[in-house]
Amino acid sequence: MGCCHHYFAQTTDGDNAFTIDASTLTFGAGCLKEAGDQAKALGMMKVGIYTDKGVRKLPPIETVTSSLDAAGIDYAIYDEVKVEPTDESFKAATRFAVEGKFDGFISVGGGSVMDTCKAANLYSTYPADFLTYVNAPIGAGKPIPGSLKPHIACPTTSGTGSEATGVAIFDLLAIKSKTGIQSRRLKPTTGLIDPEIARTLPSTIVASTGFDAMSHALETLTGVSYARRARPPRPSLRPLSQGANPFSDTVAFEALGLIGKYLVRAVNDASDSEARAEMMYAATLAGIAFGNAGCHLPHGMSYAVSGLVREYHAPHYPQHEPFVPHGMSVVLNAPSVYRFTAAACPDRHLDAARRLGADVRGAAPKDSGEALSGQIIKFMRATKFPGGLTSIGFSERDLDALVEGTWPQQRVLRNAPREVTRDDLRELFRGAMAYW
Ligand SMILES: [Fe+2]
Repeated sequence: MGCCHHYFAQTTDGDNAFTIDASTLTFGAGCLKEAGDQAKALGMMKVGIYTDKGVRKLPPIETVTSSLDAAGIDYAIYDEVKVEPTDESFKAATRFAVEGKFDGFISVGGGSVMDTCKAANLYSTYPADFLTYVNAPIGAGKPIPGSLKPHIACPTTSGTGSEATGVAIFDLLAIKSKTGIQSRRLKPTTGLIDPEIARTLPSTIVASTGFDAMSHALETLTGVSYARRARPPRPSLRPLSQGANPFSDTVAFEALGLIGKYLVRAVNDASDSEARAEMMYAATLAGIAFGNAGCHLPHGMSYAVSGLVREYHAPHYPQHEPFVPHGMSVVLNAPSVYRFTAAACPDRHLDAARRLGADVRGAAPKDSGEALSGQIIKFMRATKFPGGLTSIGFSERDLDALVEGTWPQQRVLRNAPREVTRDDLRELFRGAMAYW
């Protein structure tokens, strides 16, 4: 890519190395049928299948269970996974794992399902007080003591990339804030990414998960350089969110090219199986990318947006309470953020815009924030997405609450390419209210 190896120039106190975390994943139409054989190869005899009530009714569960039956593997299904999980829902999922005495796990669903399965695997394998492994300073941030049981992740949406990451995100109810558990040991052993699944997804889900994938790739490319993140006390404590690096650049760049080409087609035409399959692949690549670099402001700000929503209900998502899909809560902040972060690494913003399909001929570094923001807004309009936070019920009266809801996410905010103050955040949210 055109970017700038000077971005990774060594600094006095910064890290002097980065870790490449590749994933073992299988991609291809119909590959979900491999679940039984893959489980057998991993030594599973009794499997806990994790899913949610919505996915339970869909063909992928039948495909997986038939495949396990054919391989002679015993299983039990847990379909109580909560969309946007909480510590309580993680604990309930763990109880099922403890009672089931499983020797392996298969998750079939979106990010909530895969993350819940990761947590159930962790706490049933290494029982501990819930906050033990939760990111500091909210939790103790203790390292996971050893390997977990094998876990085969089977995503049913084209977005979260959770099959490729060692991250499990949840709402900690006591403080009404999102946090997570992060460890390479949490990463699924393998994944089956079957694009056949994407054929029947509602367009609203393809849009919000697709924008999530786009954001993973963009935040990877525009994040702080790994060489500017403080060196860990021991190399083994290098965080998963290690900052942008040459490997994450390469993968994110590839993902962005596919998303630029296929996102709008995949959303607007359910019969465009090529576009939907390519988005499945792009989402996995974007997951590998941010799993190796970390996210920054759009994700950090999204947690306040999803936590403070009062009245919005997204079609095809749970309707019993106000709900903003994760990808929507992220991308609505994105154009405002890139107008702000472009000054820190304009070449990267320009490269990202070009890769998404923007015509940036003749653009100067000072135009780079606008070029990238403009391209994201173009995609939002082309998919009939909400045009900003006011479209989902927020107003300038919410600015203080949005800032205060974001401020505790320092771990994510520090991954931004420039420092962010409370006042900056306020302006970023103000800038995200209405794009057209
Ligand atoms: Fe995300």
